[in-house]
Amino acid sequence: MNRPIGIFDSGVGGLTVFHEVMKRLPQEDLLYFGDTARVPYGIKSAETVTRYSMEITRFLMEQQIKLLIVACNTASSVALSALQSAFTIPVLGVLLPGAKAAVRYSIHHRIGVIGTEATIGSSAYVGAIQALDPRVIVHTRVCPLFVPLAEEGWGAHAIAEAVAREYLEDLCRTGVDTVVLGCTHYPLLKGAIGKIMGESVTLVDSARETATEVQTLLLDQGLSRTDNSEPLRKYFVTDAPERFRKVGERFLQHPLPNVEKVIL
Ligand code: DGL
Repeated sequence: MNRPIGIFDSGVGGLTVFHEVMKRLPQEDLLYFGDTARVPYGIKSAETVTRYSMEITRFLMEQQIKLLIVACNTASSVALSALQSAFTIPVLGVLLPGAKAAVRYSIHHRIGVIGTEATIGSSAYVGAIQALDPRVIVHTRVCPLFVPLAEEGWGAHAIAEAVAREYLEDLCRTGVDTVVLGCTHYPLLKGAIGKIMGESVTLVDSARETATEVQTLLLDQGLSRTDNSEPLRKYFVTDAPERFRKVGERFLQHPLPNVEKVIL
């Protein structure tokens, strides 16, 4: 089907998901929406994040998307079911693919989940993991400073490791063998997180797992693009397109030429 896939996030972080989808499905037309005027979502109420998510999805529906990916873990945690009931196209969040992968990888049924205040506060990951396997014990941690560190480009800096130690040292002692990176920005701190958690702990990148799931869904539902022309890549933001471009190129590891500011 020759219509674009829509991907949205509170800001620039969802480009980690965009990057994985682009790698996995290079022939698909992709539209990205970053709500840069209202970021961060991670400290906002479920009601507000749901309202923002509905507004963004209405905008993307006007662009004729065939499928929506909620790249933001916070929005996936608190707004996914509202979006799924309000819109007729398939709506996929990053939470379930991450939860499924964690259950698959965990040998000792002890999983850690790290994310924003709103994601962890919603208990959505815990619910999803335990629905898949009730034997699993889930330990969660809120790691708010990882977001600005990633945007500053300090994900691999010594300071990131010091912050990771502060947040995660006691998570190590719980005996978790798998940790879900439950926030768009955390893959950029994978090195620091991995160093603190230790080599034996598997880190689950929800972005990568989501891209795999999107590929399966497109094939199963016959929604893959059939046109062989150059695919469209377009980025919409609600504020500061220049900053989005600058920070975003680091997240995407790719140039960002088509950034347009829109008012919802
Ligand atoms: N995109 C958000 C998430 O994955 C992180 C940034 C924010 O708080 O808006 O939860």
